[in-house]
Amino acid sequence: MSTIVAPSLLSADFLNLERDIEMLNRSEADWIHLDIMDGVFVPNISFGFAVTNLLKKISKKPLDTHLMIVQPEKFIKEIAATGTTYMNVHFEACTHLHRVVQQIRDNGMKPAVTLNPHTPVSLLEDIIKDVDMVLLMSVNPGFGGQKFIENSVKKVTQLKDMILRQNASALIQVDGGVNLETGRKLVDAGADALVAGSFVFSSENPEETIRQLKAL
Ligand code: DX5
Ligand code: ZN
Repeated sequence: MSTIVAPSLLSADFLNLERDIEMLNRSEADWIHLDIMDGVFVPNISFGFAVTNLLKKISKKPLDTHLMIVQPEKFIKEIAATGTTYMNVHFEACTHLHRVVQQIRDNGMKPAVTLNPHTPVSLLEDIIKDVDMVLLMSVNPGFGGQKFIENSVKKVTQLKDMILRQNASALIQVDGGVNLETGRKLVDAGADALVAGSFVFSSENPEETIRQLKAL
């Protein structure tokens, strides 16, 4: 199976968003990764429902929505209405993660849980069988274009071990500082899905860059 590639729209040209979505539609990208930030959970604010509700009209790819917000459970219905496939909530933002995961599923989406770089994989032991994907942050969330944190490769190995040991089916996704070099290490360690923002959108030929990531 080839690597799942989810370009992050955060690095797209927002004055030409339709053009960039059409490029992604034509490309081999599997999903479109949407980074929603609230200025509280992370020190930045990105875009919200005004944008995501338009995207669903033109995106031909499944949406993978990464919520960098406090109390993500408040917005489950609104996220479902955007037509998203994967709803990613941060472990650090959910006191009652098990309940949130069930609510996401009850609203017709696939639940995914995201870990910040400092959060150990071992904290997922009692939730791993309930989620469809784990997103490991390989930068501190909030901004595109940051340097990859090397410790993330070890976390992929640990998570893969846990998934195999528990006979779970969660996909492993990694987000932040992904390029061909870091992507190679992550896939070798067991990553199924890669998010890439600046590497895709700042390249001369984004469609070709997506193809190269998929071939990892
Ligand atoms: C960071 C976001 C990422 C970001 C990745 O908070 O979660 O999805 O867009 O950007 P790059 O690939 O440039 O590190
Ligand atoms: Zn993200």
